[in-house]
This record gives sequence, C-alpha cells and structure tokens, in this order.
Amino acid sequence: MKPEILMMGPMHPLCMEALEAAYTVHRYWEADNKTAFLAENGPGIRAVATNGHLGCPEAIITALPKLEIISSYGVGYDAIPVKFAIEHGAKITNTPDVLNDAVAEMAMGLMLALCRRIPQADVFVREGKWAKGGYPLTGELTDRTVGILGLGRIGKEIARRCEAFKMKVVYHGRRAQEGVEWTYYADLEEMARDVDWLVVIAPGSAETKGIVSRKVLEALGPDGAIVNVARGTLIDEAAMAELLANGGLGGAALDVFEEEPLPDPAPFLLDNVVLSPHQGSATHKTRAAMGQLVVDNLAAHFAGKPLLTEVTE
Ligand code: NAP
Ligand code: 8YV
Repeated sequence: MKPEILMMGPMHPLCMEALEAAYTVHRYWEADNKTAFLAENGPGIRAVATNGHLGCPEAIITALPKLEIISSYGVGYDAIPVKFAIEHGAKITNTPDVLNDAVAEMAMGLMLALCRRIPQADVFVREGKWAKGGYPLTGELTDRTVGILGLGRIGKEIARRCEAFKMKVVYHGRRAQEGVEWTYYADLEEMARDVDWLVVIAPGSAETKGIVSRKVLEALGPDGAIVNVARGTLIDEAAMAELLANGGLGGAALDVFEEEPLPDPAPFLLDNVVLSPHQGSATHKTRAAMGQLVVDNLAAHFAGKPLLTEVTE
C-alpha cells in the first residue's frame, strides 16, 4: 500500500507527478469542506507536502495523528510551527541552496527596475509618450552602497552580484561573520543611515517581525531605497507605504508582503515602487530543483534513510 500524504497546494508538475506515483495524494487545496476532508483522510496521513507560503498550521498537524514528516517546497519555514510539529513527532524538511541564484537574480532585477524605473519607462513607450519627449533621468547603482539585512545563503549571492555592479557592500545580522570582508553593522538603524540601498533577505520569525521599523526606514531616508525578497513581516508595511507616499523614503521594490496575495495594492501604486508577486524562486529550473528536494526528502524518510535537508531549529 502506498503511504498517504497531504498536499497543501500545487507544486512543480514534475514534483506532483513523482508524488502521485509514489503516494496516495490528498489534495487539500481542492477540498470544498476542509473540516470534513481532514476528518475523513487525516487519520491515514503520514506526510505533508507544502510550501513556504501555506506552511502547515497547528490545527492541521493536530488533525494528523500519524504525521511523520512535513516536506516544504521553499527554504523559509516561518509558516510551519516547527517546535509544535517536532513535539507532535514530525520531522521537517525545506529546500535550501537550490534557489539561491534565482532569488539573488530577482533581487538584482528589482534593484535595476526601481533604480532605472524600467517598468515605468516601458509603460511610457507603450503609451506612445516618447514621441512627445524623452523619459526623465534616473539614478544608477554604480558606486552606491548596499546594506544586506541577512547575509546568509541568498544574501551572499546578492552581495556578490552587487559587487559585480561596482557597489560597496555592508551587512547586518545578529553577529559579524568570520571570513567575510564586507563591513559589519551591529545596529540596523545605523546601517540604514549609511547606505543607499537596503536589501532584506533574513528569515521571517518572531525575532525579525517588524525589524525594519519606521525608524530604520526614516534612517534610510528620502534618497534611500528598500528591496524586500524575504518576507513581508520583516517590514513595518504601513510606515513604509506612508513614507513612500510623502517622500520620507526614496523607493521600494517588493517581492513579498505581510499578506499574500497582496489584498489591496493601492498603498503601493506609486511611481517610486516596483511590485512583484512573490516570484523570487519562480523559475522553471529552480522550482524543478525545489520539487526534486521535496520528493527526495520524502523518499529518504520512507526508505528509513537520513533526510537531505532537515530543519531542526
Ligand atoms: P539563511 O541562509 O538562513 O540566511 C539568513 C540570514 O539572516 C543569516 O545570515 C542570519 O545571520 C540572518 N538572520 C537571521 N535572524 C536574524 C535576525 N533576527 N536579525 C538579523 N539577521 C538575522 O537563509 P536563506 O536561505 O538565505 O533565506 C533567507 C530567507 O529568504 C528565507 O527564510 C525566506 O524567508 C526568504 N526567501 C524568499 C524567497 C522569495 O521568493 N522571495 C525565496 C527564498 C527565500 P545571523 O545568524 O548572523 O543573524
Ligand atoms: C517560494 C520562498 O515561493 O523558499 C521560500 O522561502 O518564499 C519561495 O521560494 C515559496 O516557498 C512557495 O510558496
């Protein structure tokens, strides 16, 4: 008999095919009556396949008495109550490293788009405005300073790319890192005051919630810009929208939001903002690699082998 698994939402087609072949897959997102669905299928389910956005809420974990493993299609696991799941007897896996390049590319794309106003200039040409005069001059990344909040696996890839763009790189985290030559700031507000760009790429957690506070955004200031490819929860979104509108903050390029899908884009429909619908890892190559890790972790678990990428916290 194939083990039964609960899939919270769709994944890369190759991953879904592989899971369908190896397991009896219960599709949570397709169930109209979630409570009845869990009551009927929950007792037999041994694994959950989910993603960084949907996670696996405590109520679902509780409804799965035989749960052994949660395999997540994403590196960030802030939507999974890790301690609760482990106490419930479940292991957790994520998909680190395979998405570093794709997310770093997206960060650079957002920086360039905001700095050179590429989306706005595209609309300008499409709307036939060019014939009436050229597009206004823009800023430039070269020679500017970028501060990375969260110099981890992805943060380092962004930092390297920024250096290739002739930017000066500095960083903030909970501690200075050995073997890293970029200047470390123990204080985020101080770093924000000294940089032109702040790139946010630390994990979502109770500790990082609102870490980019109004004070940090004000320190970044009217000539500063923020890029968020981490989680919406890290930034005081209301303060950011207000400062972007009144000139207190120069610009923002946002791939992630406190609530997703973004329920009301109105506060961000400004000329100094570039928006993206959580696309950091969303390339064919990277999503296939993430899906493969989900499949491989589940296969390792059910074969009694060591997990490839276990989250232990
Ligand atoms: P990582 O390797 O664990 O790096 C995280 C970095 O954040 C570390 O350098 C860590 O440094 C720092 N950090 C952790 N807690 C902190 C705190 N309280 N204050 C300041 N810095 C802190 O993680 P990663 O693989 O690079 O991924 C980072 C995050 O990116 C994920 O958790 C996820 O939320 C997000 N992400 C988004 C997308 C997207 O599609 N937009 C895709 C993938 C990932 P210290 O330990 O020195 O503090
Ligand atoms: C995914 C992510 O878009 O890895 C992460 O933490 O945020 C992204 O790669 C997400 O897991 C899919 O919802």
